[in-house]
Amino acid sequence: MEKTFLMVKPDGVQRGLIGEIVKRFEQKGFQLIGGKLTMVTRAQAEFHYAEHEGKDFYERLVNFITSGPVFAMVWQGDQVIPLSRTLIGKTNSLEAAPGTIRGDYAVHTNFNLIHGSDSPESAEREIGNFFQADELITYSKVV
Ligand code: CMP
Repeated sequence: MEKTFLMVKPDGVQRGLIGEIVKRFEQKGFQLIGGKLTMVTRAQAEFHYAEHEGKDFYERLVNFITSGPVFAMVWQGDQVIPLSRTLIGKTNSLEAAPGTIRGDYAVHTNFNLIHGSDSPESAEREIGNFFQADELITYSKVV
């Protein structure tokens, strides 16, 4: 089963949007198999955003993601990686469509509420950066 790493960023936590964001993935039919409120260390942030190192927004990005608690999650389901990106919406706030999380709630690209993995390789890497294997719980539905 495909897994993805999703993270409500400090702006989403501060705005009280954890519940709204979790609800959208639950309603879509995905299964939450790991979650925690945590501070991102500088080392975790640099690992997570390594592909952006050297870009003009990199320092701002690392400073922001380490500035307050995030809600880190692992979700599972068929096509959860691309479908999560659809639910999240485009990175650029000016292009994020209404009905998506960013389209409904984000005004600035720098404060775009949520991160979602963009490939199976990224998901594996990002999950490993935030979760130990025994923090992920797989379970089946009883009702
Ligand atoms: P995220 O999906 O977490 O991945 C990288 C983040 O960098 C992105 O969301 C944005 O919040 C932030 N960012 C700021 N400026 C840009 C930019 N020009 N292009 C891409 N990402 C940007």
